Amino acid sequence: MKRSAILTAAMVVAALLGGCGKNVETVSFSADVQPVLERRCGACHEPGQPGYEASGLQLNSYAAVMEGTRYGPVVLPGDPLSSTLIMLVEGRADPSLKMPHGDARPPTSDEVAILREWVEQGALNN
Ligand code: HEC
Repeated sequence: MKRSAILTAAMVVAALLGGCGKNVETVSFSADVQPVLERRCGACHEPGQPGYEASGLQLNSYAAVMEGTRYGPVVLPGDPLSSTLIMLVEGRADPSLKMPHGDARPPTSDEVAILREWVEQGALNN
């Protein structure tokens, strides 16, 4: 009995340690996602700027991202395929709607992967 409990505990610890450092790591909104949004999207998506004025979407906090545009959410937790925000940064929408607009510097493929993974993992506020 006791021995099997210890074995089980050891296996849990091993599984937890094994998960670290691989790409199954949990994406953090504040450490990973927010800096990307700030760098690539923030300048247009704040009051007085075209992205915000046209859509009502601010990207400067978790609450704002989850609230979406004045027409509704752009992030569906767990569903990157249907999330407008991910569609746009992956260029899956009509080219005229690609984000960011115009000649603003687009996110790198690593940055897109962070956004996608974050939505995939449930768009956590972490
Ligand atoms: C150069 C300005 C600019 C930048 C940079 C920018 N956007 Fe936008 N964004 C806009 C404008 C303008 C609109 C509203 C009209 C439209 O969709 O064409 C918009 C709308 C959106 C919408 C709503 C689309 C819809 O139809 O529901 C999303 C989501 C969005 N942006 C995400 C982002 C993300 C994510 C980034 C950063 C990777 C970003 N934007 C960077 C200008 C910008």
